[in-house]
Amino acid sequence: MKALILSGGKGTRLRPLTYTGAKQLVPVANKPILWYGIEALVAAGITDIGIVISPESGDEVRAKTGDGKRFGAQITYIRQDSPDGLAHAVKVAQPFLGDSPFVMYLGDNLIQGDLAALLNDFKTRTLAATILLCPVPNPTAFGVAEVGADGRVLRLVEKPKVPPSNLALVGIYFFSAVIHDAIADISPSARGELEITDAIQWLIDRQACVEACQLRGWWLDTGKKDDLLEANRVILDTRLQTAILGEVDAQSKATGRVRLGEGSRLINCTVRGPAIVGANCHLENCFIGPYTSIADDVRLVDADIEHSVILAGASVEGVSGRIVDSLIGQRASLTTAPRRPKAMRLMIGDDSKIELI
Ligand code: TTP
Repeated sequence: MKALILSGGKGTRLRPLTYTGAKQLVPVANKPILWYGIEALVAAGITDIGIVISPESGDEVRAKTGDGKRFGAQITYIRQDSPDGLAHAVKVAQPFLGDSPFVMYLGDNLIQGDLAALLNDFKTRTLAATILLCPVPNPTAFGVAEVGADGRVLRLVEKPKVPPSNLALVGIYFFSAVIHDAIADISPSARGELEITDAIQWLIDRQACVEACQLRGWWLDTGKKDDLLEANRVILDTRLQTAILGEVDAQSKATGRVRLGEGSRLINCTVRGPAIVGANCHLENCFIGPYTSIADDVRLVDADIEHSVILAGASVEGVSGRIVDSLIGQRASLTTAPRRPKAMRLMIGDDSKIELI
């Protein structure tokens, strides 16, 4: 059994961050999203992993993630020259996959729980594909499945106006090698992509056995800011363990589950967990509220931040209002006057979003 993680794509919904970096490397609780997927696959016993990368962000993914040794895996990088769809990514990876059955895992997805039971079920039976489904309140925004009473998938529809069910396709799929025949025979959709839903529908139309399995626990697609913040909240809530490796001065207080990285200093700060601060950060006169992740080398002075993700090397200084529900990019710098500013000097990149509330 092999695994294929899709880590290419356009990442338009996470612009402007994705102009300069891969969205799969954006950290959740200070760890790249992509690594959660690798760890889940290795925990399920799959160590032969291919990662599809794009020409724009592939080098960064490769440099950061490496050859797989740190995860106990062997990673092969596969370049997809243009983001022509999930099924296209499988097509490009065919030389790596050969005739092996495989798990396809979308590199910006996070799920709770382990894949081992699902994997065993798929391996012991001769199925063409197993798809994972999760009930959602807004099925019109997803790929949706219609499932028969016996668990077989009858139909898949991409973003349906009238959804046949509330069961959305989770970004994890189990395929046998027959999926390559399907992909070879389908054509690009109206949006110009080779769709994996069309390939699976091709199998269903030919009476191949495609089963659905309902995911127990949460599933998060981190492709947009609010989903990413939600993933950060859930991971901090469920997995963070207290560890104070940096310095906390006598005027500072860390309550609840807080992780403070090596070389980091808290000077006259209150940190209320769950919250994580990376290594070599300088925090002075700050309040850091729950569900905040601060990456390495961040400088925060006179700042008040809650339910936010701050990326490496960023700095926030003298901001009088509380920063909430925010995602601040690498090396970004945010400074204002201590009182209500009379004027602002700004240099804001394309597609940035600033809400002064
Ligand atoms: P999506 O989030 O569906 O697509 P995208 O990355 O282009 O993002 P956006 O909609 O914001 O523009 O992709 C799901 C995952 O699959 C994600 O990790 C990127 C990856 N992917 C590829 O590797 N190749 C592709 O051709 C596509 C479309 C996605």
